[in-house]
Amino acid sequence: SLPASVKIIEVGPRDGLQNEQQTISAGVKIELVNRLSQAGFVNIEAASFVSPKWVPQMATSSEVMAGITRRPGTLYSALVPNMKGFDAALAAGVDEVVIFAAASEAFSQKNINCSIAESVERFRDVARAAKENNVRLRGALSCAFGCPYQGEVSADSVASVVQQLRDLGCDEIDIADTIGVATPRHVQTVMQRAAQEFPIAGLSGHFHDTYGQALANIYASLEVGITIYHASVAGLGGCPYAKGATGNVATEDVLYMMRGLGIVTGIDFDAVVDTGQFISAQLGRKAVSRAGNAMAAK
Ligand code: HMG
Ligand code: MG
Repeated sequence: SLPASVKIIEVGPRDGLQNEQQTISAGVKIELVNRLSQAGFVNIEAASFVSPKWVPQMATSSEVMAGITRRPGTLYSALVPNMKGFDAALAAGVDEVVIFAAASEAFSQKNINCSIAESVERFRDVARAAKENNVRLRGALSCAFGCPYQGEVSADSVASVVQQLRDLGCDEIDIADTIGVATPRHVQTVMQRAAQEFPIAGLSGHFHDTYGQALANIYASLEVGITIYHASVAGLGGCPYAKGATGNVATEDVLYMMRGLGIVTGIDFDAVVDTGQFISAQLGRKAVSRAGNAMAAK
């Protein structure tokens, strides 16, 4: 049987916007986060404290965190690659920091300019600081189903990095399909392997929709007991270091499916549809969400 309820983490303000070429003002980002807060998400990935030379769009992260209206019951998360990022995130008052590793060596080098082992060493200080400051710690694992540089990635390499993130004290671990290449049976194999190393209640599915498989992969993950999913309003996004990767699965599409399955999310679907139309208008294009556009056209 499928889970009765799931947690949806909205990652549009971070994973979505980080890949935008046009500069988006802090004001628009703040309004986006506020609308998402009002829609009832319990966790929003709102910022990323990475090098502005690597990802210029995220350079306004402190301003965004300072400008948002915090909804009690919502955790605001941010990516943090090193102690410099952690210090900035702490000063900005983030509730949860996300350290991000890869299951593929080649992607680790391209994305964070170091090997997997070096990244884990670097994250050790971040993890310790997070615990000392009572900041929740999440670990993201990129390229868990395939790598744009290296190709295939084995379930064993996923399991190995899951172990290392677990040993750093992560409260939650994201199994990410960075380039959207996974298909349902593969997803089940990898999720079940990861669940041998980390409590399944703390594993999440982070699916990009490049090959149109994301909803099917979420359904496959539900079947094996995964209860946390990442999604991006209007299907925003991509990864600047994964050429050709498109956005995350659209939040509207995930909510439509969950509603049809009778799975509780606690999120106001109509408010998310409106938010998807809002941010798409700001970006000057149509939302990449089938359910969102269908609902908006009604
Ligand atoms: P580096 O060049 O090796 O690092 O980059 P460095 O320590 O030599 O620093 C270079 C410069 O950046 C220095 O400035 C530092 O001060 C500055 P300079 O002295 O030249 O003026 N710097 C920073 N500035 C602000 N905040 C910081 C920071 N750190 C250094 N935290 C580094 C290494 C990790 C910093 C770099 O590679 C980086 O920032 N990478 C981030 C790439 C990124 O954000 N990728 C997208 C997010 S991951 C993703 O989207 C995948 C995910 O969605 C899951 C999935 O789908 O797979 C999570
Ligand atoms: Mg991503």
